Amino acid sequence: MSADVDLLKRRAAERAVELIESGMVVGLGSGSTASHALRRLAEFIQMGKLHAVRGVPTSQRIEQEARALGIPLIELDDMTGIDITIDGADEVDPDLNLIKGGGGALLREKIVAQASRREVIVIDESKLSPKLGTRWAVPIEVVPFGWRSQAGYLESLGAKVTLRELNNAPFHTDQGHLILDCHFGQIEDPISLAARIKARAGIVEHGLFLAMATEVIVASSGGIRRITRGTD
Ligand code: A5P
Repeated sequence: MSADVDLLKRRAAERAVELIESGMVVGLGSGSTASHALRRLAEFIQMGKLHAVRGVPTSQRIEQEARALGIPLIELDDMTGIDITIDGADEVDPDLNLIKGGGGALLREKIVAQASRREVIVIDESKLSPKLGTRWAVPIEVVPFGWRSQAGYLESLGAKVTLRELNNAPFHTDQGHLILDCHFGQIEDPISLAARIKARAGIVEHGLFLAMATEVIVASSGGIRRITRGTD
């Protein structure tokens, strides 16, 4: 990643942290942009600008990072809902539908997103896309048992399927599942595709986040733009 892109990610993330208020329960997204938000949140807590904030991490990695930064954490099952979540995305369409899961944390990210009153997505402008699937494959989390049969099913839906690897071995999610990166090309009807993907035992979750983001903060060289669902 270039330093310029990383700077834009940081700007978007830091703007989002300004939305957090003391006493809030905050969903802690995963990925490099969400990590910027995490560090800013820790700074605000240390400075005393925010207090009584508790975080719900979306991955083991972000949990470790949050603990190291001294951010108080809480279990999702220990409260009734999350006030605000700040997370990244891989691709964002004009209706604020997303592809997520480039870091492999899509299942927990989606569980946290659906429990959140506000789901704030932070991106640099390169993530904006006219149609989902233009720039990124859809990551699909599957149980290891019989995964090749799920890959065959996804191919029958039009995907070119790649088993995600890390260090020349299959990548395993925090839940011990596998990720199939599915290139569908431009997705004309993401709602229908999402329903077909989920209609198969062995497929745990997919990286299409439809109507889940309440707002997107986009950083570009020209400045920062906040888009709320239904407006521009
Ligand atoms: C993690 O599983 C993903 O959903 C990330 O939020 C997404 O890949 C964006 O990552 P970056 O912020 O590192 O670009």
